[in-house]
Amino acid sequence: GITRHYTLEIKMHNVTRLCHTKSLVSVNGQFPGPKLIAREGDQLLIKVVNHVPNNISIHWHGIRQLRSGWADGPAYITQCPIQTGQSYVYNYTIVGQRGTLFYHAHISWLRATVYGPIIILPKRGVLYPFPKPHKEVPMIFGEWFNADPEAIIRQATKTGGGPNVSDAYTINGLPGPLYNCSAKDTFRLRVKPGKTYLLRLINAALNDELFFSIANHTVTVVEADAIYVKPFETDTVLIAPGQTTNLLLKTKPSYPSASFLMTARPYATGQGTFDNSTVAGVLEYEQPKHARRSSIKNLPLFTPVLPALNDTNFAAKFSNKLRSLNSKRFPANVPLKVDRKFFFTVGLGTTPCNHKNNQTCQGPTNTTMFAASISNISFTMPTKALLQSHYSGQSNGVYSPNFPWNPVVPFNYTGTPPNNTMVSTGTNVMVLRYNTSVELVMQDTSILGAESHPLHLHGFNFFVVGQGFGNFDPNKDPKNFNLVDPIERNTVGVPSGGWAAIRFLADNPGVWFMHCHLEVHTSWGLRMAWLVLDGDKPDQKLLPPPADLPKC
Ligand code: C2O
Repeated sequence: GITRHYTLEIKMHNVTRLCHTKSLVSVNGQFPGPKLIAREGDQLLIKVVNHVPNNISIHWHGIRQLRSGWADGPAYITQCPIQTGQSYVYNYTIVGQRGTLFYHAHISWLRATVYGPIIILPKRGVLYPFPKPHKEVPMIFGEWFNADPEAIIRQATKTGGGPNVSDAYTINGLPGPLYNCSAKDTFRLRVKPGKTYLLRLINAALNDELFFSIANHTVTVVEADAIYVKPFETDTVLIAPGQTTNLLLKTKPSYPSASFLMTARPYATGQGTFDNSTVAGVLEYEQPKHARRSSIKNLPLFTPVLPALNDTNFAAKFSNKLRSLNSKRFPANVPLKVDRKFFFTVGLGTTPCNHKNNQTCQGPTNTTMFAASISNISFTMPTKALLQSHYSGQSNGVYSPNFPWNPVVPFNYTGTPPNNTMVSTGTNVMVLRYNTSVELVMQDTSILGAESHPLHLHGFNFFVVGQGFGNFDPNKDPKNFNLVDPIERNTVGVPSGGWAAIRFLADNPGVWFMHCHLEVHTSWGLRMAWLVLDGDKPDQKLLPPPADLPKC
């Protein structure tokens, strides 16, 4: 591989959408940020310069960061944030990965506007395991807020309630023609007939899983989270925040006399408030040269039919179709022997509200605030970075190495919900020996509101060996685990009122964040960290921290 240098200048930039102009935190004055391209095996040196009043930190979502945890990016987990006027060079090598990933800010809600695609091409001369596409097109979904997202989460924290929802979804930053005052801000994909296009879908939205479909076309799913999958055809794709999905789109053999909307809108199983709007882009066939110039505008426009908002049946079927390619070249190395088995509950709840700083708080007695937890612990962000504390042997008062893994209150999905939904708070991490083979079952508790949780693990890919509705049954369900060709990824939807079982090999020393990729749930505490110790051999140890690592 080669070394590639990038500079990302974090600066304020004026953007107008839906007739609202605001100054937002951007990368290089672009919204969304520029795409980063590399090949498998390349080393990336990415200088991030902070020109905004906010602290910043960037995460390279899905990059494994083998032994380079200092470059992972979540603020107060692997680094202190980059302060105003400061910079930091993220230095990492892409080992054994190729496909679509993305980067995003990993502090507060700044990822609402600070995100962009990462395209990792195969090594030079190495082919895709599918026909070479005519063109490759990143399509990154986001959410547009007329207000400042930082103000929204600040306000929600103050009242202990739910934050305001977005005003639009976007494709490559553009809401499209179904919103007021937005027709000119439409993503247009111009195609030729009889060709194959590779669409690199990324869900960078803050809080919503999305259905995506193109009118009168089917697509073939070939990759998820930068892992090749067994190709399958579908007319609709479901993609959770933090997930990426590559699709092959075969265009019609000859010029159709129509254009086609490509739309996305949420998959929502809960009763909570969410942005129930639809983003649209347009798939346009470039008309032959002799056609009249205006003709493309006058063509009829077809609209796709998306599944119902709460179509859990579609969701379950779709995730069941996702299987590792598991070919000779790309085998699925599922850990067959397991060293440690964990059972975590994930869910929403409440914590006591202490009325600090004139908080108003929620609940019948105005004394609770919304919380979310893993195994009933709502994770408190530390004020010093966990990785530095661990590396320097100064964990006292920063974190406790005792993450509980038996549910504190065993939850019975079919029983009466407990009347005490209070969770406790703490900065607890789960310590693993180097090379531990882990099986983790995550059970959604759905005590307050039902929503599936896209759980994202930093530093690893994992295999999704099982998924189901209801209570996980430790005697029955493991018998049906798929240990042959399970999907390998970095973000999995734990179904609302259901469970997901994953396996991974802890072969990457460092501190690795795991959290729900719905930003509102992360903010409420649905997060924790794994601490993987160094192995004995020199190449099994975390590398020393870079000299310019930010200080808290
Ligand atoms: Cu894409 Cu910790 O997140």
